[in-house]
Amino acid sequence: MQIAIDGPASAGKSTIAKLIAKRLKFVYCDTGAMYRTVTLLAKNHQIDYGDVSSIVKLMDEHEIKFINKDDGQVVLLDGHNVSEEIRSEAVTNNVSQVSAIKEVREKLVELQRQLANDTDIVMDGRDIGTTVLPNAEVKIFLIASVEVRAQRRYKENVERGIETSLKTLEQEIAARDYKDSHREISPLQKADDAIEVDTSDMTIEEVVAKVLEIVQANK
Ligand code: DC
Repeated sequence: MQIAIDGPASAGKSTIAKLIAKRLKFVYCDTGAMYRTVTLLAKNHQIDYGDVSSIVKLMDEHEIKFINKDDGQVVLLDGHNVSEEIRSEAVTNNVSQVSAIKEVREKLVELQRQLANDTDIVMDGRDIGTTVLPNAEVKIFLIASVEVRAQRRYKENVERGIETSLKTLEQEIAARDYKDSHREISPLQKADDAIEVDTSDMTIEEVVAKVLEIVQANK
């Protein structure tokens, strides 16, 4: 069974997808982490985020691996765990540019489809229901207001010891929404057959219950 969870930045996709995967004992795949890892690779090699050929070359030369652990997905770049590093502001603020590159998307979409081929999976991202797994049995489109999403990011940042103003976070989220929705290839878009869930006024438990209800109804 394939469950696709899409939606804008900080709508709660990975939190919900992780919990759903755990409940159903499915594999969890965070596709955003893949685009983030390629962005980190470019950053580490001081490659311009728009330099397509150098980025593609880097992807061929380096090993990016995803390991599923009980408490989520671990990302290994050349054997090093970069799960924390890919969440840095420098990566977050440049990942939209890297994820808009056609060649990067083609390589990562292929990897995502391979992962989903032989296992029950919950995959979250922007284009899972529309492009990566168009035949997924369940498609969820999670949304929340910019204000609520900025608040959530703010709380996460405080917990990780990162100082950012709420206003800045709101601006960054709005900018990322715009870039992700307006890029040429596989823009962030609700699939026609996806069910939209607005999480603005819902607790995590309520969202999980709602998604499980949708999964049950589509089994
Ligand atoms: O979900 P996230 O914030 O970790 O995603 C990081 C970026 O990667 C986001 O700005 C858009 C991009 N992305 C994408 O283009 N396609 C996906 N399937 C997942 C993420």
